[in-house]
Formats: sequence, C-alpha cells, structure tokens
Amino acid sequence: MLQITKFTCENLEKNCVTDKKHPAFSYQLASDLEGTFVEQAKLTVNGWTLETRDQIALEYQGSSLQPFTEYEAELMVVDNHGQTATARMTFETGRLARPWQADWITDGSYRFVEKRISPKPMTFHKAFSIKKPVRSAKIYATALGIYTIFVNEQRAGQDYFAPGFTSYKTNLQYQVYDVTHQLSDENHIHVTVAGGWAVGSFIYTRKNRITADRQALLMELHVTYEDGEQEVIVSDESWSVTTEGPWEMADFYDGESYNATKELHSLSFHAASKETVSIHPCISSTYGSLVKAHEVFYPQTIRQEAGEIIYDFGQNFAGLVQLTVRGKKGQQITIRHAEILHPDGRLNTTFLRTAKATLTYTCREGLQTYRPEFTYMGFRYISVSGIEVEDIETISAIALYSDIEETGSFESSNSQLNQLQSNIVWSSKSNFVDIPTDCPQRDERMGWTGDIAVFAPTATYLFDMSRFLDKWLTDVKNEQLPTGGIPNTVPVQGFGFPVTMPTMAIDFWGDACILVPWAQYQARGDKRILARYYPMMKKYVDACKFWAGLGSFGLHRYIWHTHHSLHFGDWVAPDVPQMSQWQKRSKYTATASLKNTSQLVAEIARLLGFEKDAKYYQQISQKTAQAYEELLTTNGRLKEEFQTGYVLPIYYDLLSESAKKIAVERLVSMVKENGYKIGTGFPGTPYILFALADNGYEEIAYKMLLNDTCPSWLYEVKMGATTIWERWDGLDENGQCPIGDDGTDQMISYNHYASGAVGDFLYRRIAGLEPLEAGYRRFKVAPLIGGGLTEVKARYASAYGEIAVHWMVEDNGIRLLLQVPVGTQAEVSLNSYERQVYGSGKYEIRWEKSV
Ligand code: BGC
Repeated sequence: MLQITKFTCENLEKNCVTDKKHPAFSYQLASDLEGTFVEQAKLTVNGWTLETRDQIALEYQGSSLQPFTEYEAELMVVDNHGQTATARMTFETGRLARPWQADWITDGSYRFVEKRISPKPMTFHKAFSIKKPVRSAKIYATALGIYTIFVNEQRAGQDYFAPGFTSYKTNLQYQVYDVTHQLSDENHIHVTVAGGWAVGSFIYTRKNRITADRQALLMELHVTYEDGEQEVIVSDESWSVTTEGPWEMADFYDGESYNATKELHSLSFHAASKETVSIHPCISSTYGSLVKAHEVFYPQTIRQEAGEIIYDFGQNFAGLVQLTVRGKKGQQITIRHAEILHPDGRLNTTFLRTAKATLTYTCREGLQTYRPEFTYMGFRYISVSGIEVEDIETISAIALYSDIEETGSFESSNSQLNQLQSNIVWSSKSNFVDIPTDCPQRDERMGWTGDIAVFAPTATYLFDMSRFLDKWLTDVKNEQLPTGGIPNTVPVQGFGFPVTMPTMAIDFWGDACILVPWAQYQARGDKRILARYYPMMKKYVDACKFWAGLGSFGLHRYIWHTHHSLHFGDWVAPDVPQMSQWQKRSKYTATASLKNTSQLVAEIARLLGFEKDAKYYQQISQKTAQAYEELLTTNGRLKEEFQTGYVLPIYYDLLSESAKKIAVERLVSMVKENGYKIGTGFPGTPYILFALADNGYEEIAYKMLLNDTCPSWLYEVKMGATTIWERWDGLDENGQCPIGDDGTDQMISYNHYASGAVGDFLYRRIAGLEPLEAGYRRFKVAPLIGGGLTEVKARYASAYGEIAVHWMVEDNGIRLLLQVPVGTQAEVSLNSYERQVYGSGKYEIRWEKSV
C-alpha cells in the first residue's frame, strides 16, 4: 500500500500561517513494495494544479492568495507500481502585507535611561466584553522587546521570546494565536513586554536600547462571530499600561525578578500612549522556528552548602527552572545558575562574566509555582537560597530551544562515542535559541557566524533546520555590507564588525553565507535556498578576492594575508596558548577559505545555470589553489606547520597530487608525534578526520577520535562533559579550569557546538551515510569499519522519509540493515566490495569475511 506519511506547507504539517506569496509544499511516502517512486503527483491549491514527479518544495504558482484565509491543499500520488494515495492539509495566510489597524503603543511615562541593564517589563491591559457566540478569535501580535500574552490570565500559545530575534530594522515577525476557546463574556488581555534583544542589554558590552528606547506593542484581535460579523480589537490609546507589574526585572544575561504578591488583576494601570517607532521593517508572520519548552530534567543530586541548596540536573543545557514551593508572603527566594562547580561544591560562575544568571522570586502566601518567562540560562547546576528544602515541593528544569524537528541520530558499541554524540546534540539544542548562537550562558549568546559556518553539516543532519536557517540567512543577506563583507555576528544588534576595519570580509566567519545554505541544500534538497542567497554569496567571494589581492601582485593576489588581528585564524587551536597565535595563522586559513568558497560558488552557479559565473569563480578557485602551494617550502612542507594548515588544503583538495601526498604524510606524522591529540581550531576541526580517513589513514582517524587525553573529543567525555566545550582544555584532570590570561577575556564556555562539528564524520564516514544528490534523493552508504566498533546505528529523517543504517561486525563478516525511503536510491559499498544500488525498501546485506 502507498501512503502519504507527511504533507507540509512551508515545512510545517500543522499550524502554518504564512505571508509567502508562493508557499511551498513537500510530501513523504511509504510503501510496502520495494523500489517505489513517484510516477505522478497532482497538487491542488486554490484551484491551481501542479502535476509533478518531485516531492520537495513545490511552489504554489496560482492566483493571489487572500489574507487571513484558510486554504486546503490536496495531494494525489500514483507510484510506479500503479498504487495511489491521497492526502489533504490546511494552511492559513497571514496579513499578506495588509496594513495594521492597530497602533504601536507604549508606556509614555517610562523614561529608560540607565546603561547596561534591561528596561522594566511593561504590562499592557485591555478589557472588553463579548456579546455574541464566537466562531474564531485570533491574535496577531508583535513587539519591540519580547512578549507574552495572557488572555483571562491564561497564556496564549507556547512560544518563548516572541517575536523572535531578527535584524529588526529590516525584518520583524508577528505571531498568530488562536484564542477562540480562551474568551468568555468579560475578557482581560494582559501583554507583558520585556526588553529582549531589541531594547534589553545585549552583547558583552551590555549595550541596551539598540533598536528602540523602550518597549512597544502592536496587536490586533480578530474576532469572527457565529453570525459572520467581524470585529477587530486593536492596540491603541484605549489600552492601559504599567511598569509596576510582577516582573520587576528581566534580562537575558542577568535573569529575572518576579514578585508574586503583585497579581495581574490588581495592578494599577495608566493610559498607554502611541509610540513613534523609528524602524520600518517588513513585518511578516513567523517564518523561523520560535523557541518552545522541550525536555524536562529532575535533580540528580541535592546538597546543602553554606546556606544554599545545590541541585545537579545531570545535563548542561539552555533553559529554565520551574519550582513549586510553600512560601510566606514576601519571602524571597534566590536561584543562581552555573555550568560547573568549584572544588568545594559551590557554583562556579566566573566564566559567566557579567551575566548574573540569577532569579529572584518574591512569594505570595501558600503553594505556588514559578517558571521565568523572559530570560534563559545555560546551566547544569543551580543553587537555591531563602527557603528550606522541605518547603520545596518540586523542582525541575526545562530545556528551551527553537521548535526544530530532531532528524538524526547516531549510536555505536562505544559508549564514550555515544556520549560525544549526546554532547553534540545538547550543544546544538542549547544554541539553537531562535538564532544560531555561540553559547547560552555568558554575556554573549550572539549569532557568531563562524560557529554555525563550521557546524552546519552536523546541524543539518541532526535537525530539520529549514525554517530556522532560512530566517537567519535572510538577516545575513540583509546585513551584508555594500562592500560584500559579512558581519561577524548576525543579527548585528550592536556588534557586527571590529570597529578598526568595518568594511572587511573575514574568512570562515563570513563563509557562513555560503557554507550554511550549502549544507542546508545538501541536507534537504530545496534548491531555492541557493537561488535566494546566490547574489550574497557572489558578492562575498568578490570581497574576499579583493581583500586577498590588496597590495599584492601575480599569484600572490590570491594569498589572503590582511592584518591577522582582523581575522580569527585557527581560533581556539589548543597547540598554541594565545589568541594572537591563533590569529597569526589566518594567512593559511583565509587562503584555503577563498579556494573553498569560490569553488562552491562555481558549483552553485552551475546548478543554477549561470555558466559564465561558474567559469569565473572556478578560475579564482584554481588560482587560489596554486597560490596556496606558494606557502610550501621546497621540500613540500608548510613554512609554518600546524594541523589545520595541512587539513584545509587536503580536505579542500587544493594541492597537486605530489604536494598532497607530502601534506598527508606530514599531517599523519604530526598527529602521531602529538600522541593522536587534536591540534586544530574552528577551521580545521570539522575536517581533520576526513583528511586522514579519506587518504588511507582510517585507523589514525579512529585513534584520534577515540583518544581521551587532553585535548581530544573524548577527553571532555572522560571529564564528565554533557555538552561540547568551547576550549579543548576547558577543565584539567582535577576538574578545574587551567586557562589563564590568554587574551580572550575569560572566554571559556562549556556549551559551544563548534568542535562538535566532528559529528559530520560520525554520520558521513562511520555510519557511512552521505548524500550523492542533494536531499538524499540518491545517497551513499559506505560504512567505515574500524576503531574496534562492533555495531553502529544511525538514522536520518530525510526530506523523503526515514533512512536507517545499522551495521554489525559478526564472526563471519559484516551485516548491514538498511532502510531506503520511497523516492530515493542508496548506493551501498564496503571497501573493495562492488557497489550495489537499492531502491526504496528494507534490506539485510551481508559481506562475508576477507573484508
Ligand atoms: C565566541 C565564539 C566566536 C568568537 C570569535 C567568541 O567570543 O564565543 O564562538 O566565534 O568569539 O571571535
């Protein structure tokens, strides 16, 4: 039987509200017959019909969609066996640029002038009665700041930090909440708007008021009555407001102060005022993935230390605590957060820098529950003071991250490797908080481009990042400088570029504008992401070429050595102790980056049919490859030898055969001399194991991966890490941080995904699962047996459906269990065994000994 197992609009199965004029539909199939693919599919939306054999990103091209309207999409599929399946789904249009009837409103009496802190949260109020039966009631809302709506004291929706983090001056999202069942005859709407990213303190210099001087709200409630009449209740001067609500302080870094003695219904309000908003963004229905509450953790240990109760949740992550306590009116409870402990068991908050990461809760009388609303923390441990342990009824912690589907998994017979995989997953979750951040705990949590540039292939295996990354890339595009450079952090929001050189292009960090859409395209197969960002990519590579060539002649124009302090070079490389030494390697990393990005742009140009461009960028790529050889001495070695310096030219294939051979040999010797320990920074880490394994040194790659002496991936695991560390040597064998003043201002986080980029090697080589055609329409299964592993299981929920690979070493050979989704083909091979092609279905494959 043929079945349609998933049918999405804009990558959502349910609750899609879109402002896209051409929303895109995708579907997945399942069949009990092998070798199934689509013979013909018919998609019908709003009277428009598409006949196709494709399954991904089928763009609506019918007549204009109407705003605020629910549409049905119908799908009929016939497969190559003559079986058919049908499905329907509904989606809704948003405002489709219809002007707002509502006004931006604020607390006109609130003057927020303090520096380095966030404003007091503003609570808006509107009361109204409903006289007739309601068919539907929907809120359309956005804010400058982050907001939560309460309808009759019940939270609307489950989002955190709406409207999300975008480059506010160009883009702002609004949300739609169906509150039909929350209304009664007499209604009260309360909306609290905290500072968030737009008004609150942000980045490590704790800038505030970056987008606006104070918070503002824009909201409409569209009520449709049973008799068809419509009414719109809008934010305007009839609303009231106060900054004296229960949230007395809310800040991403510092935490929250909540006073439960102040109840929403008994606050004293004054009239709200219209606000003149100085930005004019395009306001669209949520197109990213807003933050939601996910896993719940319970304390694994509880200890009392010097007046504090210390809880260990057993997992480092980003999120919030929730506690239910028996309290006395006015009693104050303080909760602090940390990733690690001091040797004496107290919380070590040193590396949070200026972030106070503290909650202050003032109790009302009796049993009560508190969960913060306008902040989040990166933590594993908390300390609670101001209450006796027996008065704490329950305490739990909730992971907060963007609503992205978990698509990938990896499991093996090696438990340390499994913990590494879990650490990679948790560092991803902790840093996919509306945008891809660097870390979730200290006073940064910024959209550092370099981190996601290197991590994107791993991220897109683990999660369906379609909406999340597309939203972020829209901002990357909008924030690109006219000169082509990409800011180091996106949204820029107070940071962006080093002030010393605000027009530059910066290797690897800027490469995000190419590496991220490329990884996303490979994973999900939607070519539109390449088309959308192609002009940005070209402009960026042109800028890189310009900066590389500045002041040089001949082939040297392709060796990119702008002043090193402006690049990040081999960022956090553990084999040299100082930030300046990482940066000094930028001549090598930047030149390799130019080779790679120009090559990718050439490939993308070819895919999009821009042949002339393809030739042009291919030439840049070739010239840069030749130029890299200029960095070699006559005996073929690098003038300055370091692991990344060899890894990049090997992996990016930029050396001649003979030079590559020497480079591989030198890399292998250096790795051996270094006791198989890692020596790479951000740029080399994702590729080092590929550089070894793909060039005949599989066992060396395995030795490095499975090494657990510092610095190595498994050293962190051995030391009890539950997430990936920023610095390879983040803790010494005694569990203490050995890093002194290395020029980075205590840049030590225990939850940074960048070096978790090794995940890509686990999936693509050890499990052996790699797309041959974007979106895994054709994929390779070529497991790398070795490292003493006896079993590996990996799954990937591709855009076509579930792919599963499970290999086992048995007495007489290797056994592989394989699942291939409808519409795809797998090319299976093992070492010297012949490649075999499988259509959709479930298979058991055996390779007899001698392998
Ligand atoms: C961040 C990094 C980032 C780096 C670049 C750090 O503070 O946490 O992950 O890429 O700065 O300078």
